[in-house]
This record gives sequence, structure tokens and C-alpha cells, in this order.
Amino acid sequence: MSAKSFGLDIGRSFIKAVQVEAKNNKKVLMAAVSKQTPSGGIQSESPVDLGKVSDAIKACVDEAKISTDKCVVSLIESQVVARLIQLPTLTDKELAAAINWEAEQYIPLPIKDVFLQYKVVSRPQESSTSGKMDVLLIASPKRVIQKYLNVVRNANLRPEILETESIALVRALTKSEDPATIVVSLGALSSELIIAYGGNVLFTRSIATGGVTLTRAVMAEFNLPQAQAEEYKQTYGILEDKLSGKVAAVLKPILDILISEILKAVEFAHSHVENSQISRIVICGGGAYLPGLPEFLAERTSFEVSLGDAWTDFVKEGLILKLPGQGSFYCVATGLALRR
Ligand SMILES: Nc1ncnc2c1ncn2[C@@H]1O[C@H](COP(=O)(O)OP(=O)(O)OP(=O)(O)O)[C@@H](O)[C@H]1O
Ligand SMILES: [Mg+2]
Repeated sequence: MSAKSFGLDIGRSFIKAVQVEAKNNKKVLMAAVSKQTPSGGIQSESPVDLGKVSDAIKACVDEAKISTDKCVVSLIESQVVARLIQLPTLTDKELAAAINWEAEQYIPLPIKDVFLQYKVVSRPQESSTSGKMDVLLIASPKRVIQKYLNVVRNANLRPEILETESIALVRALTKSEDPATIVVSLGALSSELIIAYGGNVLFTRSIATGGVTLTRAVMAEFNLPQAQAEEYKQTYGILEDKLSGKVAAVLKPILDILISEILKAVEFAHSHVENSQISRIVICGGGAYLPGLPEFLAERTSFEVSLGDAWTDFVKEGLILKLPGQGSFYCVATGLALRR
């Protein structure tokens, strides 16, 4: 990690900037600021909308008093294609030569139009002759990357690295010695399911259900304007003893979609990766604060569920004390800031 760059998460509901510094081998939170994303957001193709996003990023960075213009930026998970593939055991050199050709079979986009990254997740022992290696492939469309670079540069910043949200989240929330974990990141427009093991991303899936889906359901059911529906959701959540469980009754069926996807992801992990017995779920993102969510997920999946906090092993001084409980909201941005 270097304080010479900061993490920038351009969410579809909130833009977040986080700066971390290493002090005597300890991590210190130097800055964490968010700003509401202007309408349209990063998913828009309109130059006017994208200009507003650049302005909001600039306002966020100014307010955070971040001392550098170099940043690490996240790509929305649904914009990239990530696949865990198995290949015969190859040396790094052989893999570099073969990867484009191999990727063509797995990536549903022309290889010439994507920026391809890969990481060896596991390699069998040298003595094994029949073993296969697991390689994580990530393909990001060049058009999307160019859009992000333009938006960030127009905020007078220098984007040094772009990486997917899942990689940032796994860095922020798990350690290599942790048991296999499913990270569920609940954003505004989508939710990301990530299986993490040994500090690596093994699997990702983006589901088009997010905080906005829940708010809209409350608006429709109770005929409420958006702001009030948002307040209902954030206050009552899926607690059965609030408003006679009426809000819970609207939201739980939507969350059941998410739960069935979590269970499918777990199946995938068990069938594809050795020793990947999953025993816990870590939830994060703004939607993770939904009252009653951890208990509901635990009950439906029988896993241990906890609210992810990217700041647990940070020095508890200064800014961190002023932002209690926000280490989940800032997970992606913190993971980006922690990139070495
Ligand atoms: N207490 C709460 N209870 C329920 N939902 C909440 C609460 N606080 C925030 N949210 C929801 O979290 C969402 C915003 O979270 P977040 O900032 O992680 O999204 P984002 O990163 O902007 O979106 P995306 O990742 O989809 O681009 C909103 O939909 C908001 O309704
Ligand atoms: Mg997000």
C-alpha cells in the first residue's frame, strides 16, 4: 500500500474516495469521503452525464483533502467477465503464450476488443503429472476502460490502475489463511457474489438486484415517494416486529432471489475447487446495513454471516473514530487504497 495513491469507487449511488497510510507497519485511515452520484452515473453514455460524474469525483477528492492525484479505480463487476478456467500445468512463459487463445473459448467477447488479465490461482505440485492448474481470467472491454479513464482524467486525476470490485473486496475483507468465504456486496443497482479463497477470487456473479430494487418495491407497495420509501427500508428493513412485518413481507421475496444465487455459487465452489468448503458469508456495501439482513441470511443458508468491515485491523485513531460502522460502505474504496 502506498499513500501515494488513493482508492476511488465510482458507485452508481455513491462515489467514494479512501486514502490509507502505513505508519510503523500499522494501517491508518487518512481520508474517507462519499458524494451522491449524479443522475446517469458512470453507466451513462452521455458526455453531459459523464461530465457531472467527473465533477462529483473532483468534489469528493477536494473535500477529502487527498494530497495526491494518483488513484486506483474500480470497475463495476457487471462490466467485466471473470472466469475460473482449468488448464494443463504450464510454466508462466507457456501460459503467457497460450492465454489469448485459451481465453477465446471462455470469454463471450472478441479478444481484440478486451483487455485481458489473468492470475494463477493454484498450480499442482511439480511431482504431479496429471494435475491441472486453475487460472482466473478477467476480460474488460476496452471501450469501458476508456470511458473510466476519461471520466477520472476529467476530474484532474491520474488513474494508475483499474481493477474489478471483486479483487478490491477480497483484499479488503479476507486474508489468505481464511477459510473459503462468500462475499456478498450489496450495491444500489446490483449485488455481487464473490467466492474468495486463499486471498484469491475464485468466482464472481453479478445479480441485477440491489438497494434500488428494494426501495422501488416499498414505493409500489405502500404508494410512497422515493425518499420516504428509502427511509422505511433503512429503518424497518426485514424486521418482523416492525410495522407488523409489512415491510419485511415486501422485501424478503426479493432477497430470496439473492439467496438462491448464493446457494448456487456455493455449489459451484464445492464442485470446482478442492478444499473449498464454505462456512461463512461476509456482507458489505450500503445494502448490507438493511436491518435484519445478517440474521435472515444465516437462517436461510445455515452459514455464519457477518457484516464486513474493511477497517478492523486499522489503527483506531483519528478519522476512523469519526466514521463508526462505515467500514462496510467503504469496502471497495479501501481495498483499492490497500493495493500495493
Ligand atoms: N441502512 C440501510 N438499509 C438498507 N439499505 C441501505 C442502508 N443504507 C444504505 N442502503 C442502500 O445502499 C445502497 C447504496 O450502497 P452503495 O453505496 O454500496 O452502492 P453503490 O456502490 O453506489 O452502488 P453499485 O455498487 O450498485 O454501483 C442504496 O441503494 C441504499 O438504499
Ligand atoms: Mg458499489
